[in-house]
Amino acid sequence: MTANILDGHAHAQIVVDQVASELDRLPRAPGLAVVLVGCDPASQIYVQSKVRMAERLGLRGEVERLPDDASEADLLARIEALNARDDIDGILVQLPLPAHVDALRVMAAVDPAKDVDGLHALNAGRLFHGDDALVPCTPLGCLRLIKSIRPDLTGAHAVVIGSSNIVGKPMAALLLQEQATVTQTHIHTRGISRICRQADILVSAVGKAGLVRGDWIKPQAIVIDVGTTRVKKPDGGYTVCGDVSFDEAVQIAGAITPVPRGVGPMTIACLMENTVKAAKARAA
Ligand code: GUN
Repeated sequence: MTANILDGHAHAQIVVDQVASELDRLPRAPGLAVVLVGCDPASQIYVQSKVRMAERLGLRGEVERLPDDASEADLLARIEALNARDDIDGILVQLPLPAHVDALRVMAAVDPAKDVDGLHALNAGRLFHGDDALVPCTPLGCLRLIKSIRPDLTGAHAVVIGSSNIVGKPMAALLLQEQATVTQTHIHTRGISRICRQADILVSAVGKAGLVRGDWIKPQAIVIDVGTTRVKKPDGGYTVCGDVSFDEAVQIAGAITPVPRGVGPMTIACLMENTVKAAKARAA
């Protein structure tokens, strides 16, 4: 039997519909500002998708563009200006940032009440304390997908591959909050395939195409693939590959996200949700 393939677009639509129904109760359309430094093609596409979705929903989306060689001071000044604007409820600084910019200092500059990426230390700390927080959108979306299959995670063994601030660490914190037993693995973990084989829930957020082979997967596990690696095709074009060897894993897992059309749409839907959450909290 092959795995249940989790349709990210269908699940994202459920979140988007919920967000749309909440907009009527707000005094004005929430405003989302996405800050893009440089012209990385993948980042441009992500930013476009975020703003387009915001506008489709009736939010106000705007992109603040800075050149590749913008200084950290320029970027911080732009963030300060967005912090001060009453019509902006959510601020997202698209990552990665150029190497000459200190990403942690930039995250710290965003007003925590507008931090729809959940990357400010105050929101990260609140998440780790189990307090109400703005939580990074990708792990939030992954958790929804997992819970669509298994609503109660109590006692489940969850293995997270990757320990980034944007996915791996908050993913582990969310799973822990759901009473799962969480193992966080990363590039230096020894015997990773053996650890993954014990996972009822396996989330991979590494960005290494095909890392997770079929024999890493416990039969009937829920497998969430956050990886997106651009891989060159023989015809010169590019294709996007996940961290999981899908054709192998689909034979073993109970449920699995494809790449693309898996986690990606959920990230954008959860960004809309976070923006409305921030707008509601600011209006209260
Ligand atoms: N780059 C890739 N994914 C993300 C994300 O979720 N947020 C930000 N800020 N940058 C990203």
